[in-house]
Amino acid sequence: MGLLIQHGTVVTAERTFAADVLIEGSTIREVRAGIDAAQHTLVDARGMLLLPGGVDAHTHMDMPFGGTMSSDDFETGTRAAAIGGTTTIVDFAIQARGTKMRDALDMWWAKAEGKVCIDYGLHMIVTDLGSGNGKAGLDDMDSMVREGVASFKLFMAYPNALMADDATIFRALRQTANNGALVCMHAENGSVIDVLVQQALAEGKTAPIYHALTRPTTAEAEAVHRAIAMAEMAGAPVYIVHLSSEDALNEVREARDRGLPAFAETCPQYLLLSLEENMKGEGFEDAKFVFTPPLREKKNQPKLWDGLKHDHLQVVSTDHCPFCFADQKLLGIDDFSKIPNGGPGVENRMQLMHHYGVGAGKISLNRFVEITATAPARIFGMYPKKGTIAVGSDADIVVWDADAEHTISAATQAMRCDYSMFEGRTVKGNARQVYSRGEMIVERGKFLGKAGRGEYLRREARGGAWR
Ligand code: URP
Ligand code: ZN
Ligand code: ZN
Repeated sequence: MGLLIQHGTVVTAERTFAADVLIEGSTIREVRAGIDAAQHTLVDARGMLLLPGGVDAHTHMDMPFGGTMSSDDFETGTRAAAIGGTTTIVDFAIQARGTKMRDALDMWWAKAEGKVCIDYGLHMIVTDLGSGNGKAGLDDMDSMVREGVASFKLFMAYPNALMADDATIFRALRQTANNGALVCMHAENGSVIDVLVQQALAEGKTAPIYHALTRPTTAEAEAVHRAIAMAEMAGAPVYIVHLSSEDALNEVREARDRGLPAFAETCPQYLLLSLEENMKGEGFEDAKFVFTPPLREKKNQPKLWDGLKHDHLQVVSTDHCPFCFADQKLLGIDDFSKIPNGGPGVENRMQLMHHYGVGAGKISLNRFVEITATAPARIFGMYPKKGTIAVGSDADIVVWDADAEHTISAATQAMRCDYSMFEGRTVKGNARQVYSRGEMIVERGKFLGKAGRGEYLRREARGGAWR
């Protein structure tokens, strides 16, 4: 006896078709029209879309940053993700300088234990490969891959905190060329930005808008170019995280046109918010939009949408890294460089991409599924367990009501944050029910699952299979 979701319209990255979906235990047993209903528990999905559960490959729950912690932990953050139709996240463990990656992995497993509501993987943030030629750190990377950490993030920004030098980056890339993992790059020229930041502060420019004005798109594009060049020399793939500007996108497109395995994600904030509209330049409210890379001029938005449509960009993640305005963003009231960087987003990604992408005719329904679920599952070694509706895949399914209207607001959101970056926007399209490994964990905005039910995903390093 299984659970039979009847009469829905299944949407995958490839096609849209009328079908029933039979779930047995935690996996999908059959996908076809007219499955015999006898003996099964029935769910009527007439008029509904059946989407693979969303995969958000870039979140920061319980993350230390700028003397504070991101305000969502693995419980509140993954509960919010589930309510919004995301059933898998990939978060980041951080190797503190001078420590072993193993310690960071244990620490992040402990953060998730007993709390995480959906399945999760971890990227490892590499800050330091150790002394000499970095052999200890490089061996550490291989042992991480054996633990299912199939991707690493390195920072070209945040000097004196997370930033890695080019030698470290190049060594790490060369290691992934051998062990099959993927380097994710935060691509901004941190050293140049630091000079601009110190100059602005010395001139008394302390307001939040100077966070954005001291991080030009050229600093992003230069770092993307350098990251891709180093990856090319190392013979490794590279994935640019939170790409925000046309200048940076041009670098990725040029590399892909040359046949290089360069990938990139953008985030809803870069597609939908802008410097002109969301940072007024006066007052501290702008701190709600302080994240890195910063908001860009509005003229970048159509280029990013176009990049998504034509696969110059492969993924939409959130970079969910919330800090409450009242007691956390305020740390930078006298100095923009002390504002914790990041914003809340994990709950609204699917709604926003459906409404402003599919609803506005910018991307197809299939492309929506691809960029929010299938591509991140593939790129990060979870496909076809995650990211599609197919026989044998995990039964992570969102019963999606394409006509349901929802007004986004801090007052009603599940994310533990006292503001929303999309406050007051009414979006069309929302999750009605969410299944994770066959268990209904959300019904009409209410979380029904148990904290701690989520499982750690041992992801596969993809080796040479990048295109
Ligand atoms: O502002 C951001 N993006 N905060 C999170 C850390 C990062 O760089 O991804
Ligand atoms: Zn980053
Ligand atoms: Zn991030």
